[in-house]
Amino acid sequence: MKIAFIGGGNMGEAMLAAVLARALAQPESISVSDVSHKRLEHLKKQYSVTVTPDNPEAISDKDIIILAVKPQNLAEVMAELKDNLNPAQLILSIIAGAKISTIFLGLTHNAVVRAMPNAPARVGEGMSVWTATSDVTDQQKQAAKSILGAMGRELYVDDEAYLDMATAISGSGPAYFFLMVEALVDAAIEIGLPREMAQELVLQTMLGSGKFIRQSGASPAELRRKVTSPGGTTAAALAQFEKGGFGGLVRRAVKAAYERAKELGK
Ligand SMILES: NC(=O)c1ccc[n+]([C@@H]2O[C@H](COP(=O)([O-])OP(=O)(O)OC[C@H]3O[C@@H](n4cnc5c(N)ncnc54)[C@H](OP(=O)(O)O)[C@@H]3O)[C@@H](O)[C@H]2O)c1
Repeated sequence: MKIAFIGGGNMGEAMLAAVLARALAQPESISVSDVSHKRLEHLKKQYSVTVTPDNPEAISDKDIIILAVKPQNLAEVMAELKDNLNPAQLILSIIAGAKISTIFLGLTHNAVVRAMPNAPARVGEGMSVWTATSDVTDQQKQAAKSILGAMGRELYVDDEAYLDMATAISGSGPAYFFLMVEALVDAAIEIGLPREMAQELVLQTMLGSGKFIRQSGASPAELRRKVTSPGGTTAAALAQFEKGGFGGLVRRAVKAAYERAKELGK
């Protein structure tokens, strides 16, 4: 397939690297456009793809056009692309908060996929939730699925409302995890562990526990109960989490992200 990336920043590059690693497209069938010449030079050198500062030039003859600019640049990009599209092309937007209706109206184009990937896509462990308009063909859906799947896991939903919810969970979720890691490392240092050792212990514990949940098939609550002996060390810590209202705090945080996602889409 022939792909154009509009915006070759963090996420654009992650998608580009994943597409090439899975050989979903060859470098000669890929164009990337970006306002940053430095980014373009880097991408050309690193991936041997065609680069251009001209957005309309990048999309000519392409099957799929990936919109990977920041939300504040979407309007200018749409104004440039609008008269240069053909109906057979698929728009795949990963722009947070940009609704399908906004893209449809801005481009007067029917075939649109909206996806919400997340930061671990950069290491092939992403979670992308996506939806498509009814004009997207099965073949185009398959192509979108393979591109998003190249960055980790992907989940198709038939209701766009789920995208804002996914934004609050998988989209913003990596930051929640980083915050938890930070807090645990700080606490580990406070009880006397050297920083490097604290980081190693925390990271491997988080990674291992994630894998454990995934592979065991048990629920998190079940696993938590299994590792918590009455009157033991884990029980002492969990009592403090409960006392501090951990569950309620997480619910409030997620709700705030969800409300913000809906607001940004207005
Ligand atoms: N990063 C994530 O984890 C993540 C997760 C989910 C969704 N997303 C979405 O992915 C999109 C891209 O995020 P990102 O982190 O990759 O941002 P980024 O690193 O800033 O990449 C955007 C790129 O687009 C360029 N650009 C700006 N205006 C342009 C224009 N008119 N035409 C072409 N290129 C233009 C930027 O250049 P300058 O820097 O010079 O302006 C930059 O290189 C965002 O909409 C975001 O909501 C990101």
